Amino acid sequence: MTKQQKETVQALQWTGDALKILDQRRLPEHIVYDEYNDAAGVATAITSMRVRGAPAIGIAAAYGVVLSVRKHYAQSNHWRQKVVADIELLARSRPTAVNLFWALDQMKGTLGQQLTNPLAGILACAEKIHAEDIAANHKMGELGADLLAGAKGVLTHCNTGALATGGYGTALGVIRSAYRRQPLNVFADETRPWLQGTRLTAWELSQEGIPVTLIADSAAAWLMKTGAVDWVVVGADRITANGDVANKIGTYSLAVLAKEHGVKLMVVAPMSTIDWGINQGDQIKIEERNPRELLPDCYLEEDSGVSAWNPVFDVTPVELITAIVTERGVVLNPATGQGVRGLK
Ligand code: MRU
Repeated sequence: MTKQQKETVQALQWTGDALKILDQRRLPEHIVYDEYNDAAGVATAITSMRVRGAPAIGIAAAYGVVLSVRKHYAQSNHWRQKVVADIELLARSRPTAVNLFWALDQMKGTLGQQLTNPLAGILACAEKIHAEDIAANHKMGELGADLLAGAKGVLTHCNTGALATGGYGTALGVIRSAYRRQPLNVFADETRPWLQGTRLTAWELSQEGIPVTLIADSAAAWLMKTGAVDWVVVGADRITANGDVANKIGTYSLAVLAKEHGVKLMVVAPMSTIDWGINQGDQIKIEERNPRELLPDCYLEEDSGVSAWNPVFDVTPVELITAIVTERGVVLNPATGQGVRGLK
């Protein structure tokens, strides 16, 4: 890792015998790292969104498997079965981000090998997943910044920065790289209901010294109408082979608005976000979270008559996407070709 790559905010830190996770529920007011010593703790950290963002979830789960091996290897002849049970627990933590399942598959592959030192082998695998994600982000940053050449303004959604990845970020990495090259007005929407835009993206950009203007989610159409943004730049939780993209709820709305206003839409995600096993977006499981994340306390009584529907991702059809940027290359107008299949 280069010095520059180390300098961004870090969501995850491997200490040598534990995983430190920055509690993103408490940002930006409080910067608190909690230490995790077992896979169950990591699974809870993912479910409760202490760590979130597709690549970061995958990396955290990979270290969760390392913790599981550390716990069971010396203590039981049946340690592999116990680790497999922990992998299943981690896989149940959140359903939409395919990076979680991709990372667990990598760890299972290593576990299946007859290693002389399973502990060292499994840790090396997690560290490789982590390091490769950072490298991919830097590569995507440059490729995406090429597309932004000459752009005056961009709007981003949710948080796709160092907090959501191994470091640097996907869509936010592109914005970082582009900002180094040229003046760029950066707009971030709040991203209700969890406010990843307000609490995380605005904070991360301020840490980097990149000015950002927050907007209410509902101001996006009006912002586009003013001509202030040339591109919407977002990340992804799962990209299907035809190029449909599951991402934070509200991405689809932005894509529809972008089309109406002649604004381009860039999706930035590592290859680990592509689900080759699914052809199109209607096959993606969309996580629905507790309605309490939306409902004020006064509506929590059963007889209030007020309920809430809380899907936290949506699917943007490939037809609305101008470019998909991965570390392996850029697919322009993916709907006119074979989706992302050319990257395989
Ligand atoms: O619910 P979250 O905060 O985990 O959702 C995160 C997103 O939707 C991100 O856009 C996506 O994971 C890409 S992060 C590089």
